[in-house]
Amino acid sequence: MHKCKVRGASNNMERRRRVGIVGAGPSGLLACKYVLEKGFDPIVFESENDVGGIWSSRTIASTKLQNSKGTYRFTDFPWPESVQEVNPPHTEVLKYMKAYAEHFGILQHIKFHSKVVGIDCVGESLEEMKSWVVWGGNGKPFGSSLPSKGKWQVRVQDVRSLSIEGQVYEVEFVILCIGLYSGYPNIPDFPPNQGPEVFKGRVVHSWDYSAMGSEKAAEFVKGKRVVIVGSQKTAIDIAAECAKANGPEFPCSMVQRTTHWTIPSETLLGINIGFLYLNRFSEFLIHKPGESLLLSLLATFLMPLRWGISKMIEFYLRWKLPLKKHGMVPELSFFQDVSSCHTCMLPDKFYDRVEEGSIVIKKSKTISFCETGIVIGDGRLEPVVEADVVILATGYRGDHKLRDIFDSPALQKTITGASSIVPLYRQVIHPRIPQLAVIGYAESLSSLSATEIRCQWLVEFLAGKFELPSVSKMEEEVRVWEKFLRRHSGGKSRRACISNFHIWNNDQFCKDMGLQSRRKKGFLRDLFMPYGPADYTGLLAD
Ligand SMILES: Cc1cc2nc3c(=O)[nH]c(=O)nc-3n(C[C@H](O)[C@H](O)[C@H](O)COP(=O)(O)OP(=O)(O)OC[C@H]3O[C@@H](n4cnc5c(N)ncnc54)[C@H](O)[C@@H]3O)c2cc1C
Ligand SMILES: NC(=O)c1ccc[n+]([C@@H]2O[C@H](COP(=O)([O-])OP(=O)(O)OC[C@H]3O[C@@H](n4cnc5c(N)ncnc54)[C@H](OP(=O)(O)O)[C@@H]3O)[C@@H](O)[C@H]2O)c1
Repeated sequence: MHKCKVRGASNNMERRRRVGIVGAGPSGLLACKYVLEKGFDPIVFESENDVGGIWSSRTIASTKLQNSKGTYRFTDFPWPESVQEVNPPHTEVLKYMKAYAEHFGILQHIKFHSKVVGIDCVGESLEEMKSWVVWGGNGKPFGSSLPSKGKWQVRVQDVRSLSIEGQVYEVEFVILCIGLYSGYPNIPDFPPNQGPEVFKGRVVHSWDYSAMGSEKAAEFVKGKRVVIVGSQKTAIDIAAECAKANGPEFPCSMVQRTTHWTIPSETLLGINIGFLYLNRFSEFLIHKPGESLLLSLLATFLMPLRWGISKMIEFYLRWKLPLKKHGMVPELSFFQDVSSCHTCMLPDKFYDRVEEGSIVIKKSKTISFCETGIVIGDGRLEPVVEADVVILATGYRGDHKLRDIFDSPALQKTITGASSIVPLYRQVIHPRIPQLAVIGYAESLSSLSATEIRCQWLVEFLAGKFELPSVSKMEEEVRVWEKFLRRHSGGKSRRACISNFHIWNNDQFCKDMGLQSRRKKGFLRDLFMPYGPADYTGLLAD
């Protein structure tokens, strides 16, 4: 058992409501900024010694912003003019995050080196939670006024000390901003004697590789036979780095379970992707979770156009990139990949490296280890891919990370639900867990703007601007979303991806908050021009 000191408990009912925010990555900064603006008293716990989350220390040397800086920005804090690149390097993204934290006076509310090792809801039993008709039993953001109820205890450990003693902070609301893509590596399961333990070389997850820093990472792969497992952005970027370090002399192999569509730039067929997927018209072509009958009929009627756009892009990518030659034509359509946030940007000259033999791509639905490398397929049809180093770029378990922050096994089970998409209303609120919100678990082509509008929505709710629907209505909506997300991603995605209906989704938030959702002047501009963060500047001041 941890020995804890209780802090921050006070019976003064007049004090400002204390809101505990876990994480000072982009999501935590946004949450803190808006919580402050509404006059609450935030305390941010960050286990690292800096703000910025993944941008502060967990990017490989070549990482840059995947989307353009215009789509990855805070709505009321433009990028400085000194940043000229359309896709700034990770060092610039970090500077931008720090500047935001300084500008909005967030830094003084952050406790660095403070890892939250557990949170627990005071005085509410699971039976009570199950019986609630409205959120938290009273439908309000904050709980009962009884001192024995309606609080969260946040157990915090100073990561610089070796002591397992923690301090306990009592807060009236918790916002979890712990990141979907950090901390909890997804390590595939292997049958006995077929896992990393039998391999004579080194095995690391991309999370550890990215923590090495550029020099050590280059040294780690230099002159080695490297195998990378994975087909998404991290795997592709690391393969490009290995190819740069080793050239065709020591080719780097990528073992892919699923091949996804990758794009060389934001311009496809001479058209910016924003015009194809990020405007209101493009959203009429697709179904949305819980849409009205009219929108559903429209999407069905326009389905051939949606299909045509997807096929044209696929045709263009097959022409532009040697996908067929290298067995890299994906099984799913471009539309399905975009819908499940599985499309990523290629590093410069990636296929040149493939063509010259510095990167060799192999496909296999299964993998296992042997002494000398990775066994792909069933081990008979395909040879073993010999390796000195295996890098598992197999993603993260954001759902497990969320689960494990709860002390109570019952809440652990509740937060993760039956499916691996975290069951959150508006991707923020769990219908049965009171006085708690999760930010940063919705995915989009620009995750930052998806996060910002959720923070705005949350603080408006905390400030009493609107009420949540009943628990059963929220649960029903969560179910509808889950079903929809699975169907539209080809049935296999774990992601709460809103990439191609983000304007429609933002409209929902605006409607909840009683704000104007049409953000562009003129009917045609509003229908056809891409929507981005700048369109929502000053949203709460409207
Ligand atoms: C390499 C990489 C590149 C990316 N590039 C892009 C991109 O180009 N465009 C895009 O839209 N998205 C990108 N993403 C997605 C990215 O995760 C988000 O854009 C953004 O970083 C999410 O911010 P976040 O604050 O939710 O999470 P994170 O950035 O992961 O931050 C979480 C923070 O919480 C802290 N924390 C976690 N647990 C605890 C705890 N128990 N106690 C205290 N502190 C804790 C962590 O230390 C961290 O600082 C990228 C992700 C990765 C991994
Ligand atoms: N800005 C940038 O440049 C940048 C750089 C890196 C990452 N990112 C972002 O960071 C996030 C995380 O990216 P990521 O690439 O680390 O993770 P990811 O997108 O979750 O991809 C994980 C990969 O591992 C594969 N995989 C998982 N389990 C496997 C198993 N058991 N066997 C074989 N393969 C397995 C997956 O295959 P399946 O597809 O078959 O599931 C997938 O290819 C994304 O949002 C990404 O866009 C951005």
